[in-house]
Amino acid sequence: MDKFIIHGGKKLKGTVQVSGAKNASLALMPAALLNSGRNKLYNTPELNDVYTMLKLLSQMGVKFSFSNHILELNTTEINSFEAPYEHVKKMRASIYVLGPLVARYGYAKVSMPGGCAWGPRPVNLHLMAMEKLGAEITFEQGYIIASANKLKGNYINFDIPSVGATGNTLMAAVLAKGNTIINNAACEPEITNLCNFLIKMGAKIEGVGTSIIEVEGVDELHPADIETIPDRIEAGTLLIAGAITRSNIKVIGGITNHLHSILSKLEDSGCKLFYNKESIEINSENIEIKPIDVTTAVFPGFPTDMQAQWMAYMSLAVGTSNVTDTIYKDRFNHVPELVRLGVDIVMNENTARIVGVEKLKGAKVMSTDLRASASLVLAGLAAEGVTEVLRVYHIDRGYQRIEEKLKELGADIERVEGSEY
Ligand code: EPZ
Repeated sequence: MDKFIIHGGKKLKGTVQVSGAKNASLALMPAALLNSGRNKLYNTPELNDVYTMLKLLSQMGVKFSFSNHILELNTTEINSFEAPYEHVKKMRASIYVLGPLVARYGYAKVSMPGGCAWGPRPVNLHLMAMEKLGAEITFEQGYIIASANKLKGNYINFDIPSVGATGNTLMAAVLAKGNTIINNAACEPEITNLCNFLIKMGAKIEGVGTSIIEVEGVDELHPADIETIPDRIEAGTLLIAGAITRSNIKVIGGITNHLHSILSKLEDSGCKLFYNKESIEINSENIEIKPIDVTTAVFPGFPTDMQAQWMAYMSLAVGTSNVTDTIYKDRFNHVPELVRLGVDIVMNENTARIVGVEKLKGAKVMSTDLRASASLVLAGLAAEGVTEVLRVYHIDRGYQRIEEKLKELGADIERVEGSEY
């Protein structure tokens, strides 16, 4: 398993480009199952999770080519409707094949996702929606079996605006007979990207980007092309790399409108920001980092996927700050590892209380999940001395060669392949 070796304390400078959004690609790729033909997904990031989804789709008969971030998915010969445990256990987003398979083929056998690094990840909202659309759901040896002759439009209300359940429901409703209203739908930009792809395939969807989405089912969808939106979480992570090292860097290729909750918190902490629609310059040279509380929320609130990274940044603030995760109350596996770097954190239920320290000290730390490993890299960039971040396969799931991007900005970070851990 690879590790990163970081010699901290280096100032960063220059410009870095944001890649395509992992959480958009993981919805756009299975959506291609809804039609039969060649679909081109532009700006697809080269990430382990994308390759995992490709393995799963290939097993179903999808043919693909992937170069220069253009992913072509040929869905003319789908011959399997199963998502086996070995894929789903690696990536919960595999559940996204449920909606399109049931909608187009009337059958899907998808492994229950099990837990993830930080606890249970239920799919009850996905299953409730499928049943509301007329699918029969049974369970067999850890698998969800969904079957339906023809899905029928219905009124679906989510108690929680689940991103995944909204995506799955959209991909089922577009081929259902009649209309579907999704109330309390997720408004994340990745869902908007998915809606736009479905509309280009011929789907009829109103209320894109809002929490009330209406779908008028159609009989058939045709292949289409789509541009994957840039990754707002990678953009936010790179901005914090600039902030935590007191640097002046520019992050380009993002969509600023997807980042306001992060930008405003960075400004509150003392960073100077200059931005236009797709480039953001952050200058935190010689600032005294102010302690700024964060409570995660659904879009456009502060993303849970940025919680760990914010915690690393606040570890160097002058004062005490609180970081509360309301989306995942147990997403704190990074805390003990950050403490090893000298971060002063006390947990109280789903709130971390961080008392800023003068400096962090390099140490060996273990990645436990994707965003946790990002927070350890950020802390390592600022820490004095050497930080070894182990098991970076976690970070490779959601960041495209992040060490190359940080190196281009002047960070002293090396990937050591195949280390013992
Ligand atoms: C998506 O996961 C993202 N993953 C996650 O990003 C992100 O953290 C999350 O949305 C929240 O923004 C992808 O898009 C592939 P949810 P998802 O359903 O869809 C509860 C990353 O780091 N819930 O919006 O699984 C759930 O437990 C990953 O890139 C139910 O109770 O998230 C959570 O508390 C991590 N029942 C809340 O809803 C359900 O059926 C939000 O989950 C579904 C969800």
